[in-house]
Amino acid sequence: MQAGSNAHTTPTLDVFTAVRWCGTHLQLLDQRRLPHAEVWLDITDLQQAIAAIQSLVVRGAPAIGITAAYACVLAARKRATRKRAAGTDQDWPVHWRADCQRLLQARPTAVNLRWAIASMQQVLDAAGIGDQIQAGVDVEALLSALAQRAVQIQQDDLAANQRLAELGSALLDTDSTVLTHCNTGALATAGVGTAIGVIVQAHAQGKLRQVYADETRPWLQGSRLTEWELHRLGVPCQVIIDAAAAWLMASKQVDWLIVGADRVAANGDVANKIGTYQAMLVARHHGVKTMVVVPWSTVDVNTASGAEIEIELRDSDEVLAFQGQRVARAGSMAWNPVFDVTPAALVDYLVTERGVIAAPDRQKLLAMQQQSA
Ligand code: MRU
Repeated sequence: MQAGSNAHTTPTLDVFTAVRWCGTHLQLLDQRRLPHAEVWLDITDLQQAIAAIQSLVVRGAPAIGITAAYACVLAARKRATRKRAAGTDQDWPVHWRADCQRLLQARPTAVNLRWAIASMQQVLDAAGIGDQIQAGVDVEALLSALAQRAVQIQQDDLAANQRLAELGSALLDTDSTVLTHCNTGALATAGVGTAIGVIVQAHAQGKLRQVYADETRPWLQGSRLTEWELHRLGVPCQVIIDAAAAWLMASKQVDWLIVGADRVAANGDVANKIGTYQAMLVARHHGVKTMVVVPWSTVDVNTASGAEIEIELRDSDEVLAFQGQRVARAGSMAWNPVFDVTPAALVDYLVTERGVIAAPDRQKLLAMQQQSA
């Protein structure tokens, strides 16, 4: 693969990554095909990146944000080059900002998408560039700075994952049994993952007896992706159907429910994959401790509470068909919200790279935001 002259490439990671920046384009591991086929797709422009995010080629809040950052680079290069060829290159930033708005619409719930795009726009803001390029601005240097920022976003997430794993695993005792929901591992992040990172670290420390992974209807992130990742890492894992979670917690020793999130509101409410809320309710009922593990990029202090979080609704067919085969009556309809909101009161620990918050609430979250700002 050829890298461009001002290319910044993803450093060699010591963990598996599903998002590879090649300097000239992006490569995504197609998560729709896992675990049966490992197929990489080349993403060369904004439209392909939007389609990949919407169709869940790439998914998981941090991985969506990282992909969006690289999509901003691809869009800027295309705009700048096309305009330069036409001899009217001053106004490409206004078109690029419109591209960013389109990218923002790709999926509504994970705040990392918005956060990453805002971070990319800050590169132009910091250079004093609004809708126009002023005379004397070095466009190549600007494009290079955008690429550098995207790589930084990916590297920061990698480092945050390591810290999350350390902080979260320290809360576990030896011989712990953990239930997790959805997929929060390397496929969903730049590193070892959030909730899965904690699990993997606890396993490495000899603290883990058993992991149960909810299969995560309807898209099966748990049975297709989490089981596959944990198996690769030698972590003992059994899949359960989502509806078995209550009975699991009632009848077996489960010490922890550990999940990631797509957005944490300022009051500590947590949006995550549909089914998280019911698992958290049952965990509280049965005295199972709950841990939500997120990079700070998933905390959105501008969202006052979970009531303000837009919950993505996806197509009926994801529920009513299985592997392309219709299982319900032709013409039947499904309501398919793919996230839910767990009230902060059900969260025992919020683990971020900035620190651990027990019983998170608005005051504690805002204090952590201010401390580290
Ligand atoms: O629809 P998805 O697969 O993008 O949903 C992913 C989740 O809900 C994850 O739990 C969340 O993004 C955290 S990933 C570290």
